Amino acid sequence: TERTFIAVKPDGVQRGLVGNIISRFEARGFKLVALKLVHASPEFLEKHYADLKGKPFFPGLIKYMASGPVAAMVWEGLDAVKTGRSMLGATNPLASAPGTIRGDFALAVGRNICHGSDSVESAEKEIKLWFPEGAIQYTHALADWTFE
Ligand code: GTP
Ligand code: MG
Repeated sequence: TERTFIAVKPDGVQRGLVGNIISRFEARGFKLVALKLVHASPEFLEKHYADLKGKPFFPGLIKYMASGPVAAMVWEGLDAVKTGRSMLGATNPLASAPGTIRGDFALAVGRNICHGSDSVESAEKEIKLWFPEGAIQYTHALADWTFE
């Protein structure tokens, strides 16, 4: 199995979508191994989005992400990175399919309510950055019912 870093951004937290987003990952069969609220600093967020430094929207993105608490989590399961991204939907909510998180709840690319790692390598980096304390190890009661 694989791990991915998923975050509900400040707009998703303010709009009361944390529970809905967690429910979708639970219902899909993923295992929650880390979870916390973080009001991140601009310096921290510049590390998180380091690969986007220099983009015209970068300063606005950092301001948006630092504007309130983020619900940070790590989900584990089959193909978690790619499946997590498909559950979030396209970056621009206008292009996100209905049924995805962004396709159901968002309209603007600068207020797209959630983040998901885009590769196994970024997932590893992001999990280390947001959860230096590490994830929780436990047996998932549903494992035998969700994987062969
Ligand atoms: P994340 O899961 O947040 O990393 O989104 P992503 O991987 O789908 O997209 P990307 O990493 O390329 O961009 C990170 C975030 O920057 C996006 O989720 C948007 O919030 C924001 N962003 C990306 N492109 C644009 C843009 O053209 N304009 C604006 N205003 N924001 C953008
Ligand atoms: Mg990204």
